[in-house]
Amino acid sequence: MTKLTPPGAATAGPYEPREFDLTAVTGLSQRAIELHLELYQGYVKEFNTLLAEQSAAFPAPGEAASPLDLASHARRFAFEYNGIVLHELFFEALGAPGATAPDKQGVLADAAERSFGGLEQWMQHAAGLAKLRGVGWVVSVRERDSNRLYNCWVDLHHLAIPANTDVVLALDLWEHAYLLDFAPSQRTNYFEMLWNSVDWAKVEARCGQ
Ligand SMILES: [Fe+2]
Repeated sequence: MTKLTPPGAATAGPYEPREFDLTAVTGLSQRAIELHLELYQGYVKEFNTLLAEQSAAFPAPGEAASPLDLASHARRFAFEYNGIVLHELFFEALGAPGATAPDKQGVLADAAERSFGGLEQWMQHAAGLAKLRGVGWVVSVRERDSNRLYNCWVDLHHLAIPANTDVVLALDLWEHAYLLDFAPSQRTNYFEMLWNSVDWAKVEARCGQ
């Protein structure tokens, strides 16, 4: 997850972009991956700017406050923050094609069984979402208490992620994620490559209580 300042530190400070080892990913070109990582780092930069603006507008007692358009700031806050978190979940679980498979005895498989009838049906539903027109994310979220799994189409990533769930799988369907390697008409191929490249151990680990 996002690198947070340890509890007990005097100030939270800015976020630091995470490093990802994506050398095992072969379904996307290195150039596409580099550009995508730069885009992710841009979210971190923008979010840190928002944090600095917030600190300047709400300073310590006795210090001068900088003006801040709070409505605009608030709208951008979740956009930039979720842009960071979803990209980290995406990159973190991207590995070598076919290197792992979901644990058929695991919590994820149990959630897929009770929610969709099985892992294959869960994937088919996600594949259907990936065909929807428009840009966005296919996000699988898990309800901790019931171990239910839902697939969501998230076209604006600061909206439409259900509360009280953990994102266990985030697949980036924005065109910037694949356009150097796949035509828009090949989005199904891109989805299949992604699904085959998921590091299922990472996804299973996100299904902890
Ligand atoms: Fe992206």
